[in-house]
Amino acid sequence: MKVEDLDHASIDHVLSTTRAVRRRLDLDRPVPLDVVTECLEIALQAPTGFNLQNWRWLVITDPETRGDLAEVYRRALLPFLDAMEPDIAEDDDQTRRVAASSRYLLEHLDQVPVHVIPCTVLQVQQEHAQWQELAYDTDLWNMAASSVYGEVWPAAWSFMLALRSRGLGSSLTMIHLAEEPAVAERLGIPEGVSQAGLIPVAYFAGDDFRSAARRPLSEIAFLDRWGQPLLS
Ligand SMILES: Cc1cc2nc3c(=O)[nH]c(=O)nc-3n(C[C@H](O)[C@H](O)[C@H](O)COP(=O)(O)O)c2cc1C
Repeated sequence: MKVEDLDHASIDHVLSTTRAVRRRLDLDRPVPLDVVTECLEIALQAPTGFNLQNWRWLVITDPETRGDLAEVYRRALLPFLDAMEPDIAEDDDQTRRVAASSRYLLEHLDQVPVHVIPCTVLQVQQEHAQWQELAYDTDLWNMAASSVYGEVWPAAWSFMLALRSRGLGSSLTMIHLAEEPAVAERLGIPEGVSQAGLIPVAYFAGDDFRSAARRPLSEIAFLDRWGQPLLS
């Protein structure tokens, strides 16, 4: 397909309206595994460092396992939400909405039909001598950390975009990592494999997602030197 044949309106719509969906997840509608695998196949076209493809994907549908993950999620997030919610400013509707929506997910995560845990295989990287040097050189720690999680997030976002275009909602979550070792043991994830997060997946109800209000590019993007606005 050539550039001129692409439907930019549709592409841009999906790119700019793929929201973190929590309250609008349809918890009663089953998600066929075929849809999940189709979206994962698309995700595998994302960039991958040195083409090592150190990503791994754990798709969880077993209700008991989802229940256990939801329990971990709840344990980690509830105290934080309870503490932060009273401090949200009266006029800060957006943060209030995110908090309420996060609370909803916390209370219903066990009912979300599919949980996807993107992982990265650290072992493969560690086998490369140069990578080992990187990992132990604290000056280069940021480069190593960025590479590890950068291995999986572009693909995870492609996965979420592919889901959205098929009528399924999701959101990035990291909260269960508070108990990552216990979860790894529960799921049989071997040593040397790092979990990056948990993506709950379900069909969404309603289809009127919109672009979100974000800080303007003029405040956050610079040209040539930090502080020099990209947009004048
Ligand atoms: C690094 C990162 C961590 C996140 N962790 C969570 C999480 O643990 N739980 C959750 O419900 N959403 C999580 N989110 C989703 C954000 O809350 C969401 O993207 C944000 O509120 C903006 O909403 P939008 O994506 O619908 O525009 C995370 C997003 C990112 C990028």
